[in-house]
Amino acid sequence: MTDPSSDILLSSQIIAERVRELALRITADFKESDSLCLVPVMDGGMIFAADLMREIPLPLRVAPVKASSYGDATTSSGTVNLPGGIPGDVRGCSILIIDDILDTGKTLETLKKVLMDAGAESVRTCVLLRKESAGHLPADYIGFEIPDRFVIGYGLDLAGVHRNLPDIRVLKGD
Ligand code: IMP
Ligand code: MG
Repeated sequence: MTDPSSDILLSSQIIAERVRELALRITADFKESDSLCLVPVMDGGMIFAADLMREIPLPLRVAPVKASSYGDATTSSGTVNLPGGIPGDVRGCSILIIDDILDTGKTLETLKKVLMDAGAESVRTCVLLRKESAGHLPADYIGFEIPDRFVIGYGLDLAGVHRNLPDIRVLKGD
């Protein structure tokens, strides 16, 4: 059952169109690379990454990484945990980190540093959403700019729930 206290911000159709556009750009940018490795950020980036990678017709590896900073709250704790460490041997890899949303930027900042320190050849970033307050924070590929609201669906959760909603929704009253 859909959460009754939320409104659709981005429909599944709009998201699917944008995912295809991003995939076209990524495919063009990485077509010469023989060491492309996608690093989906779990758990929030799982659905975006799964849809995106199926639109990228290049040889690539997938190495998910688990990161958490929100706990059960709707504001970031400010500390990023990587409970499983980094995914395998990334030396020489052209990495594309795939995350759901750019908020404080701490997740991408932490992951970029850790992956470069581990010997990656390059690290680029792709986020489906960027919040208005994060407008000054860079990412190489951005799906949508959104207002500073707490969003759920298409991988994004509130205390672990609602990741399976096909649309992206804003919580009423947030
Ligand atoms: P950052 O490190 O503050 O940029 O936050 C990134 C992570 O926080 C994302 O990968 C999400 O898991 C989570 N997050 C940030 N904003 C939201 C939101 O509006 N809804 C659900 N999760 C969010
Ligand atoms: Mg996340």
